Amino acid sequence: MANYKPAAGFDESSHSVLSVQHLIAKEPLSSIPQQFVRPNQEPPSTFSNTETGSLPTTPTIDLEQLLSDEASADIELEKLHSACKEWGLFQLVNHGVSISLLEKLKHEIEDFFQLPLEEKVKYRKPGDLEGYGCDQVISKDQKLDWGDRLYMTTNPLHSRKSHIIPELTSSFRSTLELYIVELQKLAVKVLDILGRRLKMEMGEMGELFEDGKQSVKITYYPPCTQPELVMGVVAHTDGTGITILNQVNGVNGLELKKDGIWIPVNVLSNALIVNLGDILEIMSNGMYKSVEHRAIVNSEKERISIAMFISPHLDAKIGPVTKLTNHQNRPIFKTIGMEKYVKNFISYNHEGRSHLEYMRLCD
Ligand code: OGA
Ligand code: NI
Repeated sequence: MANYKPAAGFDESSHSVLSVQHLIAKEPLSSIPQQFVRPNQEPPSTFSNTETGSLPTTPTIDLEQLLSDEASADIELEKLHSACKEWGLFQLVNHGVSISLLEKLKHEIEDFFQLPLEEKVKYRKPGDLEGYGCDQVISKDQKLDWGDRLYMTTNPLHSRKSHIIPELTSSFRSTLELYIVELQKLAVKVLDILGRRLKMEMGEMGELFEDGKQSVKITYYPPCTQPELVMGVVAHTDGTGITILNQVNGVNGLELKKDGIWIPVNVLSNALIVNLGDILEIMSNGMYKSVEHRAIVNSEKERISIAMFISPHLDAKIGPVTKLTNHQNRPIFKTIGMEKYVKNFISYNHEGRSHLEYMRLCD
């Protein structure tokens, strides 16, 4: 690492990009490097023939309503249930996470990404998915996402990497720790409500996720002069139970696929986005949707997001909830232990078939 040129965001020795932010910081690029160019992208619906005005808008769920003792809680619960079935994603308002914590976190994250590259690469180990930087290059023809990340396992605690959270500034660390605790509590509240709707025993869902597997990905998407050529995060579903996404600096970019078209998610201010992952689709025996989504980038503004990936603990069993299946409604997914699920997910060779498809039982 001794002779790389920090301002260029490029590692001479491995011929790989370390950071998109620093790659473009020195001088404006005359063209987008081929590694980032993805031809034949499905355009977002705003570029297609569909009139934006007629696009359906993503559902909004009010957590205070859901948790209230009034009759309106049942109406909100049905709204949530249908959001999970039809969309696999909703915006959560009145979520109880304090605005001052969200503001503080935003400043800490902005400060982090403003650090010089040589400071940030301390949080990177070649070949490790965790830590700082843009996609690591594994194969020659690999296309790279247009964004730099700080990605880390946050739970179980013993899985945390010693060169990441413990090395952050103390104010970033304490703010992040608080955020992690608040979001985990929030996730368990939402999951418990979903568990009840899925006929699970009281508290059963929350127990699965208590002290569960959890990781955090903070992404900095620099602006791009030709955003239609690149992708911030390529289309995927999350392998999680649920993911809570916070668009830290209020810049939109998330899109989801519904009925074959890409729909932009216009986030309400101070709302958090909850999207369901593969594990909830499996547990609900296909009733809830693990939503396909992607992140596009902006031609003018940088965008920052923080995704909290929330999954069951490693001793949990992943499979359709027993009360949802019977002779008429047979389980359509396999049941396996969480530890094996994670191993399979990481090592799964996609070849056009998603890991969720691999979990599907053939009849
Ligand atoms: C992800 C993801 C979206 C975003 O990291 O899984 O979907 O807007 N991110 O950053
Ligand atoms: Ni995702």
